[in-house]
Amino acid sequence: MRRSCIDRIFLILSISLIFYIGWFIFNSISRISRDPDEEIAYLHAISGSSPMIHNIQLCSSNEIDLIIIIISSGSQFLERQAIRETWGSMSHIMNVHSQRLFVVGYHYGSGLYKDLLYEAQNEQDLLYLTVNDDSITLKELYAYRWLDKYCPNVKFTFKTDDDLFINSFLLHEIIRELKTNPDQFQNRYLYNSSLDSLFLAHLNPDAHTFLFGWAFQPGKPERNASMVPYYVSYKEYSKDLYPRYCSSFGYLMDSKTRSLLVDEGFKDKYPFRFSDIFITGILPERLNFICDALPFTYHQGTAEQCIDIIKQHNKKTLQLSTPPLIVCSTGRHVAQNTFSDYYRIWTVLKFVFGNRIHTTQSRKSKN
Ligand SMILES: *[C@@H]1O[C@H](CO)[C@@H](O)[C@H](O)[C@H]1NC(C)=O
Ligand SMILES: *[C@@H]1O[C@H](CO)[C@@H](O)[C@H](O)[C@H]1NC(C)=O
Repeated sequence: MRRSCIDRIFLILSISLIFYIGWFIFNSISRISRDPDEEIAYLHAISGSSPMIHNIQLCSSNEIDLIIIIISSGSQFLERQAIRETWGSMSHIMNVHSQRLFVVGYHYGSGLYKDLLYEAQNEQDLLYLTVNDDSITLKELYAYRWLDKYCPNVKFTFKTDDDLFINSFLLHEIIRELKTNPDQFQNRYLYNSSLDSLFLAHLNPDAHTFLFGWAFQPGKPERNASMVPYYVSYKEYSKDLYPRYCSSFGYLMDSKTRSLLVDEGFKDKYPFRFSDIFITGILPERLNFICDALPFTYHQGTAEQCIDIIKQHNKKTLQLSTPPLIVCSTGRHVAQNTFSDYYRIWTVLKFVFGNRIHTTQSRKSKN
């Protein structure tokens, strides 16, 4: 009885050993057969130090006023290309210099290293980080930390996502206003929208709190465990209400505010996974400020609605009662394969806003 029991244990151990050796050999073979570039990328990613690919010359011209951070994903090349050819195509307009920067993370096994390297060399607008491509909060924090190091003199940062459409004419106009005669800040309007709150935050030397976007009142975390991926456990976030925050659609901040947020954000070992709530809500709450409303129109809906909103600001039918559009969603936001949205909205936007602008527009991207 005892003997057969020992035999059986011995048999199980032998089988386990054989499986282990087999697994080990299989792994070694698959490692050898892996693409050598991917192998280097993998080793780089797990060492986790500097970005995989970055352009340290991005801000070397020293005249850049605005960095547009666009959170993307390794595989979303078509979104990036559509943005490069549409709203992200301006780099110097109305005497405002800007630079776009797409942020992607590393995804083990995606096999995208060579493609991204090629894209980065061609476009010079890619920040390929070693952090997990799915960790949006970390991508954003690491991108800001990178800006602190390589773009310290750039005053403004606008953050958005690659499935959205930005009225980049208006965005540049806002920066132009903030740059021009800041001492005469009273009664400054842009398309009948008061810029008072922006100037107050911009000019107050003690306030490191320039953060503006699509502000939401405090809301409840999703506590129903079947509502994946929105479900938030008490361990992740313990309070009953989120603080006021700004939507990930797009927010504008100055570099002082950005640095404050980075320093505070890196104190958390596991930063909250909803980046907009974390970066524009939870962190500002800890630092005693809020994300304020950018006085322009944000719209989540179809491309047709977006185009209609833009058309309202056509010179001929000028209706100033609603502020002009600053950000709207494209079909990509709801995972539709409608890359044409970017081009359709852009055509109308150029017609309505581009015609007003007399300064020359130069393109930096090589296309
Ligand atoms: C949680 O969500 C599921 C799916 O929507 C729903 O059927 C269920 O009733 C919800 N539970 C509670 C407690 O609200
Ligand atoms: C401009 O805004 C003010 C309120 O801020 C409003 O009373 C006025 O009607 C607006 N003008 C136009 C032309 O819409």
